[in-house]
Amino acid sequence: MKKKGFIFDLDGVIVDTAKYHFLAWKKLAQSIGIDFTEVQNEQLKGVSRVESLKKILAWGNKTLSEADFNRLMAEKNTNYLSYIHKMDTSEILPGVLNALQYLIDKKQPIALGSASKNSVEILNKVNLYKTFDAIIDGNAVTKAKPNPEVFLKAAEAIKVAPENCIVFEDSVAGIQAANKAKMMSVGIGDASVLNEADIVFKDFTEIDFKFLNELIKEKRIINKRKKNIE
Ligand code: BG6
Ligand code: MG
Repeated sequence: MKKKGFIFDLDGVIVDTAKYHFLAWKKLAQSIGIDFTEVQNEQLKGVSRVESLKKILAWGNKTLSEADFNRLMAEKNTNYLSYIHKMDTSEILPGVLNALQYLIDKKQPIALGSASKNSVEILNKVNLYKTFDAIIDGNAVTKAKPNPEVFLKAAEAIKVAPENCIVFEDSVAGIQAANKAKMMSVGIGDASVLNEADIVFKDFTEIDFKFLNELIKEKRIINKRKKNIE
């Protein structure tokens, strides 16, 4: 049996912070006369702060000086953190704790692979900081998802070969990053949005111990569509 590694995205997978990112970006965008839809917001999920602001400006056909760009990024984060400061364990998404505990009981290495630079603060808020064997986040990488850097570094940190890693992701960019890293991609969310994932679940309540146990053993689930695009 090959040693497996489990890599979790944070925002939208472990905690319901995707909604706070959306609110904070929406407020900021509106302040400079740009509006964007929930569909466009899907393209911001998993994407770094810098890249997200670049996308919003492109949608609004706007350019900014470097000073204004940096000021807006800071403003967005201050607003976002006002939500984060109020977080507690009740914001861990349903089924996540059970899955983490199962993997821990089975002595599986688990890592965080997130684009966020706020991940340590969030993990502390929800009491999960010590749960992970390794934390690779936006402070540790230079290339944003869909680049696979964050997941490759997470695999290295837990000493598991990329092809033996399983990534749980709620974003299109993150699924693409996992696929590029040759890892198994498990989408959490809407299957029509996450159609590049190897398999998709609505949330962790749909992931049972039997499935996790299959992942721990030899099985790797590859969907046919992915085989076609590779
Ligand atoms: C990702 C989120 O996890 O982290 C993105 O899905 C966010 O929406 C990115 O932009 C960076 O997060 P932060 O906390 O560093 O602004
Ligand atoms: Mg996410």
